Amino acid sequence: MAQECIAIEGGHPLNGTVRISGAKNATVALIPAVVLANSPVEIYGVPEISDVEALSTLLRELNCDVERVGDTLKVDPTHIKNIPLVSKAVDKLRASYYFMGGLLGRYREVTIKMPGGCYLGPRPIDLHLKGFKALGADITYNEKDETYTLKAEHLHGAEIYLDFASVGATINIMLAAVMAEGRTTIENAAKEPEIIDVANLLTKMGAKLRGVGTDTIIIDGVKEMHGTSHEIIPDRIEAGTFLIIAAAVGRKVLIQNVISQHLDALLSKLRELGVRFEIIGDSILVWGDYYDFKPVEVTTQPYPGFATDLQQPLTTLLTLAHGRSKVTDTIYTERFKHCAQLNKMGANIEVGDGCCYVNGPTKLHGTRVEATDLRCGAALVVAGLMAEGITEITNVYHIDRGYDNIDRKLTALGAQISRYQVED
Ligand code: EPZ
Repeated sequence: MAQECIAIEGGHPLNGTVRISGAKNATVALIPAVVLANSPVEIYGVPEISDVEALSTLLRELNCDVERVGDTLKVDPTHIKNIPLVSKAVDKLRASYYFMGGLLGRYREVTIKMPGGCYLGPRPIDLHLKGFKALGADITYNEKDETYTLKAEHLHGAEIYLDFASVGATINIMLAAVMAEGRTTIENAAKEPEIIDVANLLTKMGAKLRGVGTDTIIIDGVKEMHGTSHEIIPDRIEAGTFLIIAAAVGRKVLIQNVISQHLDALLSKLRELGVRFEIIGDSILVWGDYYDFKPVEVTTQPYPGFATDLQQPLTTLLTLAHGRSKVTDTIYTERFKHCAQLNKMGANIEVGDGCCYVNGPTKLHGTRVEATDLRCGAALVVAGLMAEGITEITNVYHIDRGYDNIDRKLTALGAQISRYQVED
């Protein structure tokens, strides 16, 4: 079976402007949230990523009209049917589980297959289910076809404490609670900007939410919700990835459509490394013209801490630092499969328990490497741009799930990058 690969010829300095697309991790929740509305919703700034296709397929299975016009997604849920979501499209991404919260919230009932998604170590949904139970849902799981069925006589407000500030659980519980009877409080809620973006859509649809973006969210249930329009916030992880690329191989790169506050943790680490950049309104200008980068220690935390999704691409940049850097991931302790791939390219990285040590500086050379997950793929793209010679990256479908036309954007900056098919 053929699969797509990317080949990158490294060593070409990048110059010019790149525009960041809408946030993947907001998009994959905003689209399922539309099932709560009784009339059409338009979403602007939708990135061109494969996750959007999978979610659109699921909406069509629910008898919603879905039309993509440029970066606008028009969804009409007027004739929606709450059928079991058990097709292959559910397996394409973990975020399919947002249909649990949305359909439970609207219909008090939902049947859905357990979602797929990148392998980043065990990824339970116990906190999501704890929230649904607290709201009044009975949950059954059918081992044979890996399907959850959630049913509630009626959905009532509840006080829910999240043992971990889970992004997915916070959003999913919000979706289930906006039409429950009475008040729901979510304590120790996650504070990621994508959660605020989803809450903004829900509010425009008629929901009553307070405190989103803090660790206590209050939701007062409403009877019904209606259509609206919404522009997605820029993708802070794509922006962070391009900041790292510009620091690694840029001369002068302007990154547009950025909310720089969403990147405070990364920006302070890049400053510590010795990267030169300037924030100009909703853009960041990066000069990558010298490399006496200093080693740093990075530990991922829930927002506003350092994002786990950026520790992999940053690790590639740290191979340029003069000394030993340490990267610790407290969110996904197994998110280090990119290190072996980088070592194949000449990096000198030791993987420890939930962390890795990057000994630099090392010169990277091109070879064939494998994207084991979405952000590993991003880390390998950075490495390919830095390396001497040609780097071939397989399993590019991982990258296409989260980055909107990354090769087109890099080519426009002067990268030598091409996409081709190989037989498995
Ligand atoms: C979201 O995943 C993002 N995905 C991830 O981005 C991101 O890495 C993660 O948040 C952390 O920021 C989307 O938004 C679609 P969590 P999510 O629930 O919601 C544990 C990318 O590269 N946990 O905050 O799944 C879990 O095992 C992706 O764009 C439970 O134990 O993250 C993990 O260790 C990768 N029980 C930690 O919490 C639960 O019920 C973080 O999970 C839920 C989570």
